Amino acid sequence: MLDTTYREGDAKSEAFGTNAMLQDAPVEKIPDGPTIPSVAYQMVKDECYAQTQPRLNLATFVTTYMDEYATKLMNEAININYIDETEYPRVAVMCQKCINIMANLWNSPETNKWKAGALAIGSSEACMLGGIAAWLRWRERRIKAGKPYDKPNFVISAGYQVVWEKFATLWQIEMRQVPLSLEHPTLDIEKAISMCDENTICVVPIQGVTWTGLNDDVEALDKALDEFNAKTGNEVCIHVDAASGGFILPFLFPDVKWDFRLKWVLSISTSGHKFGLVYPGLGWVIWKDKKYLPGDMSFTVDYLGAEVTQVGLNYSRPAAQILGQYYQFIRLGFEGYKAVQQNSLDIARYLHATLSAMPEFQPYSPDVPNPIVTWLMKPDFQKTANWTLYDLQDKLQMHGWMVPAYAMPANIQDMVVMRVLCKQGFSRDMCDQLINDIKSAVKELNTLEYPTPTRIAMEKNIPITPRGFNHTGAPKKK
Ligand SMILES: Cc1ncc(COP(=O)(O)O)c(C=O)c1O
Repeated sequence: MLDTTYREGDAKSEAFGTNAMLQDAPVEKIPDGPTIPSVAYQMVKDECYAQTQPRLNLATFVTTYMDEYATKLMNEAININYIDETEYPRVAVMCQKCINIMANLWNSPETNKWKAGALAIGSSEACMLGGIAAWLRWRERRIKAGKPYDKPNFVISAGYQVVWEKFATLWQIEMRQVPLSLEHPTLDIEKAISMCDENTICVVPIQGVTWTGLNDDVEALDKALDEFNAKTGNEVCIHVDAASGGFILPFLFPDVKWDFRLKWVLSISTSGHKFGLVYPGLGWVIWKDKKYLPGDMSFTVDYLGAEVTQVGLNYSRPAAQILGQYYQFIRLGFEGYKAVQQNSLDIARYLHATLSAMPEFQPYSPDVPNPIVTWLMKPDFQKTANWTLYDLQDKLQMHGWMVPAYAMPANIQDMVVMRVLCKQGFSRDMCDQLINDIKSAVKELNTLEYPTPTRIAMEKNIPITPRGFNHTGAPKKK
């Protein structure tokens, strides 16, 4: 790796003419000496070269396209640490402006100038903060009432994202899972309520369920919880995990009540880096009012005569995402976000309709509330097919597309589905190209005379582990 022979103008200064290009890349030990920047750059770039193009990654929820101005702004802020508020006070204020905008998009009733909320590195941190606040509020109530507070629990559907398992494990809070079933493809409200008791810190409905793209019915949950709380004297509240839906519902379905208009919704989290249209990592969590944000979690500073509240698990973090988010708010405005999300949804519905018309497939649900399409093989077709959706995944990967196939969570784990995220940057034309590739792959797979290895494994009930895509955030099967 040591390459000290470089002189400006040498033939050896051509990246591929250097000795370094004949060496293997460091794996365990730092190289003995330096490598010239252009060569080091080339080596690092080439490590990633064989990967997919991010915009062909239809497995990820995360933004893979921003315009040139957004990219420029974010690159220019690459050396700014968000936490240095004294040095970069305008960034802190910009962050708080974003929090205000999010809170108002979600119909916050808070009258304070600066709404209660926090920046996060993604939905995971935002969910954690919402969950921690619910736990601390519950604990305080229990302490005041002289009751034990050592057995907290929360209730969520089995379609949860792995962050909730982390939350349960790291904070030692029991996770009560409501199974998904064919009759209840989203949160079964009755079952959820039956799992609540005096130790329930919150129920977590999801808007844009990772596995399916569907929305839990928050309004029905709120009504059922209201009855439950009135009957039992409990104060079980709702934290909405709106990782995807938080940026879809306000623009496309403003009349659907899922947010702070509902009595028991006290906090909501979302990913700025999903349908918030900002590159990773950015999340937001908002509380209905400052009083629901436990004092222990917040750190308040005075800025220009106003109070700015800081809450978070991390200390240092990049500031560029805040600039990206604020840019998008200004650049697109409400109408612009609405147009982008509507296009994504229209493309998703087009894909959903096209796949549903194929004799091999059926959609997981007739509804497409978010720009996320999930489908499976028709059960009758699956009985005779010599291939599985895992084989289709492999075929599509040969064309550069990342489209994950995966088994659903417990209770319906025999169902294998495929999912496409239709995000900004996935045009109707690209969707047509994907459909053509799916159709020709299916045609080819249908000619197979013998079952593929995954088909044999399925027949023998041997679990097929996901092919490395982090599509659901579900824990890997041990
Ligand atoms: C419903 C839900 N919650 C939480 C998360 C975690 O989000 P992030 O990757 O932004 O941390 C995801 C990610 O896909 C999700 O879909």
